[in-house]
Amino acid sequence: MLKKLFNRKRSDTPVIDRNIIPQHVAIIMDGNGRWAKRRGMPRSMGHRAGADVLKEIVMAADEIGIRALTVYGFSTENWNRPKTEVTGLMDLFAKTMGAEVDGLDEEKVRIKLLGRVEDLPLATRTIFRQAEKRTAKNGGMTLAIAVNYGSRLEITDAARAIARKVETGELTSEAISEDLLSAHLYTAGMPDPDLLIRTSGELRLSNFLLWQLAYAEFYVTDVLWPDFDRYELLRALLDFQARNRRFGKVDE
Ligand code: FPP
Repeated sequence: MLKKLFNRKRSDTPVIDRNIIPQHVAIIMDGNGRWAKRRGMPRSMGHRAGADVLKEIVMAADEIGIRALTVYGFSTENWNRPKTEVTGLMDLFAKTMGAEVDGLDEEKVRIKLLGRVEDLPLATRTIFRQAEKRTAKNGGMTLAIAVNYGSRLEITDAARAIARKVETGELTSEAISEDLLSAHLYTAGMPDPDLLIRTSGELRLSNFLLWQLAYAEFYVTDVLWPDFDRYELLRALLDFQARNRRFGKVDE
């Protein structure tokens, strides 16, 4: 199905240009609760539908040739939600990962976790860590899942780690650079995202990848996450391809 969209011959139909595929796409998956509410369903059903859509988007991103996909699964602030919702989300993470890890591994997807994974419930963190370990050497797309993630905390942790190295003499303060700080973030070794997608219309970053998104293009859609299918992803990519990325420079 995706092939058709790439190869369409009609000149009036915008097609995806294979040469301008963002290397790294980050997604704030928002709107599961509203999606469920509109259908008179409990919020948990919205999250379940959101997990199904995530599977579709991971497959589509891989097929399109995106090298890294980072999704915001659970923030450090999300612990403030009702206990039943938090428990339900943790179970959903464990179940989804448990069910999908074989397929992801077969597709050579490398799973990476961003966040304070050690503070997740035992079953969830065990399944997540096993999946990360099992797929660590895969050479396909990187799927980074931000769980118990907060960007300010990430930067604070990096600053602390660097300070410790200065204290022990492993580093001098002059050696602290942007690259060095990047190398101490959870995303070490990954390129910065080229494109940030946020569903359900909110115009906020919500403490997500504050450092890494410095030059990313933003794409915000009113579509709620459970309705964000592969065609919505293609729409976001087409929009990205029409942007003029200047990285602070002027046009020549
Ligand atoms: C935001 O919608 C969504 C979340 C907090 C959870 C996202 C999680 C998934 C889609 C499951 C992913 C599965 C894995 C394995 C990573 P919201 O509840 O804030 O919606 P609302 O703003 O409409 O209330």
